[in-house]
Amino acid sequence: MRKSLLSAALTVATVLTYPLTTLAQHETGADLFSGEQVFQNLCANCHGIDGALVPNVDLGHGVFRQPYTDAQLVTVILKGIPNTPMPGNPTMSEEQAQLVVDYLRSRAVDSSSALAGDATKGRALFEGRGDCLSCHMVAGQGSPLGGELSRIGDSRTAGELIQSLRAPNAVVQPNQRHYTVTTAEGTTVSGRLLNRDAFSVQLLDSSGKLRSFNNDKLREDGFAASPMPALGADWKDQDIADLVAYLASLRAPAKQGATP
Ligand code: HEC
Ligand code: HEC
Repeated sequence: MRKSLLSAALTVATVLTYPLTTLAQHETGADLFSGEQVFQNLCANCHGIDGALVPNVDLGHGVFRQPYTDAQLVTVILKGIPNTPMPGNPTMSEEQAQLVVDYLRSRAVDSSSALAGDATKGRALFEGRGDCLSCHMVAGQGSPLGGELSRIGDSRTAGELIQSLRAPNAVVQPNQRHYTVTTAEGTTVSGRLLNRDAFSVQLLDSSGKLRSFNNDKLREDGFAASPMPALGADWKDQDIADLVAYLASLRAPAKQGATP
């Protein structure tokens, strides 16, 4: 494996000539460069077009050996990793390195949406391992806490669904926001915010009960993080693709002259 890296490093030297001049020309206009171009020109020789050529490093799926922050990844790209074949890129600006990081992160989403999902397996994951019905309703089954998903396939793209599963707090629908109140007696209740006005707050609590509070009886109140658990690395891209295939299949029945 070291051998193949070495030969990859050798080819890189010849291939680099072209992209480096391009880099120099656009050094002041980072936006002329897409992160993908930089990756294909400067990184793919070693890391592979799909980013998985370096053992244990899978840049193509946003999988790293450590939970790097963006800033740490920028540093890795600019400075390289000492005593390894991973070179620094002294001519690259921080903005360009950030574009590459954005591109690598976005591939984590693209790669699972590119996988063909199996809706039947997705349904089994939804009802079984994912325990999604404990918070969501589909076709009259489940809990209303996280919202009805019976027609979610009509209104969300695969990319949006993947984001909902991998990073639930990234985008929350206005009618799905969670809210926490602490009463004067010190009881804390969280739930889906149904309504809030100058006088009162109405929540749907985790058991699906409607709760109403007068503002002047509250010690504290405010928006809370989504209770939806992010699906982490123990959920393979294929599992996510299966779940997404199932969710995408949840649509309104085809209209055949029926009234809307
Ligand atoms: C000459 C070959 C080579 C080139 C070119 C190269 N890399 Fe690497 N890269 C490596 C090797 C080998 C490692 C693993 C180093 C180690 O063992 O720690 C690595 C590691 C990394 C890591 C750390 C991954 C992790 O999970 O710890 C990142 C991020 C990375 N490279 C990004 C890039 C980017 C982005 C580019 C292009 C701008 C690039 N590399 C260009 C060979 C290369
Ligand atoms: C502990 C409760 C809980 C569990 C378990 C849960 N969710 Fe959620 N989910 C929520 C809440 C609350 C929201 C709305 C806030 C948000 O978007 O994060 C939500 C939002 C979503 C959305 C976005 C809906 C939209 O309108 O865009 C999808 C899709 C979704 N969940 C799918 C799932 C799937 C699939 C599972 C099982 C793997 C699951 N959820 C498990 C609570 C949960």
